[in-house]
Amino acid sequence: MARPAAPTGFVPPPYPHDRLGELRAVAETARGGLIDCSVGTPIDPLPGVARQALDAAMGSARGYPPTIGTEQYRGAATAWLTRRFGVTLEPNAICACVGTKEFVASLPRWLSLREPGRDTVLYPGVSYPTYAMGATLAGLRAVPVPVGPGWRLDLAAVDPADVERALLLWLNDPANPTGVSATVEQLDAAVSWARARGLVVASDECYAEFTFDEHAQPAKPVTALASGSDRVLAVHSLSKRSNMAGLRAGFVGGDADLVGYLGEVRKHAGLMVPGPIQAAAAAALGDDRHVEEQRARYAGRRASLLRALEAQRIRHVGGPSTFYLWLEDDDRDGWALARRLARHGILVAPGDLYGDAGRAQVRLALTVTDEQVAEMVARLSSPVP
Ligand SMILES: Cc1ncc(COP(=O)(O)O)c(C=O)c1O
Repeated sequence: MARPAAPTGFVPPPYPHDRLGELRAVAETARGGLIDCSVGTPIDPLPGVARQALDAAMGSARGYPPTIGTEQYRGAATAWLTRRFGVTLEPNAICACVGTKEFVASLPRWLSLREPGRDTVLYPGVSYPTYAMGATLAGLRAVPVPVGPGWRLDLAAVDPADVERALLLWLNDPANPTGVSATVEQLDAAVSWARARGLVVASDECYAEFTFDEHAQPAKPVTALASGSDRVLAVHSLSKRSNMAGLRAGFVGGDADLVGYLGEVRKHAGLMVPGPIQAAAAAALGDDRHVEEQRARYAGRRASLLRALEAQRIRHVGGPSTFYLWLEDDDRDGWALARRLARHGILVAPGDLYGDAGRAQVRLALTVTDEQVAEMVARLSSPVP
């Protein structure tokens, strides 16, 4: 019998962080070993309130949880949105997500089923790679929005032919990998631009709690929902805010019609956050103390490392927010800088993983312990053997 022909369709590209093998091998040989700053995966403790709620809710794990989220979870989400951002949403304008990467990766597919006439997803030209991948997985066109000075989106530079075909615009403030955050006015301008052209705006705000001003002081977070919820979806995650990346909880809130549609589709697709995790996430959303502690940890790590890097003529060229440093040196070659840091045992992500416009930079995640930060400071100031 003839062998079936080899598949000719989609082949997943290498996962971005799986491209770091060469750098990892160099960093592993450094004295004291590798310090991994390449991934934004929190390493600090789970908040006590979340752990207690998780334990207490284990009994509820027997039955299926509601896809859209328990009343308790959606109520905690709306209360947090009001407390931190001053916006009010009805609980039916919230839907739980299994972390938010799955939501980012699947949203274009669900939206294009509803609105098949538009085949293009616009996303920031230097950004989290899953925005583009979500378009690809939906069989849509992924079109980067050029970034202008200060890594800000230049919506006027998008080709009008792409705008006409666009279904969705992704925003991300504060932004991974650059740490830049928009003002309310800038966000409002982007939402108005998209609304006027019939696009849905998905605003990924998962770093909102790590918003800082130019003096490195905590600043009020912004949300696209401040422009009203019509055609707006704000995406939030417990992964970064509450060190819960391993538990997988987030939510989307905004346009009640769209959220209702997404809730129905996601129910068919079986995208449920386990009940005890919803309970833990609700408890975490109700507590700000652990977030303040975490914010202070990142601010301390940032300040120590920035001094040590600057002494080596490695500059942060991004904004003050998130827990990432966006670095370049005089050579302005991201892979070369990543190799330079790897010789100190410090593994970072070359900027082109986030888009071609980031090829001169690297991203360093502050998701390492204070002891590792102290070790990095020491290593940076000693000559590489
Ligand atoms: C910008 C951005 N959005 C979404 C996510 C997804 O996070 P999670 O799936 O843990 O909610 C990440 C994770 O790094 C991210 O950087």
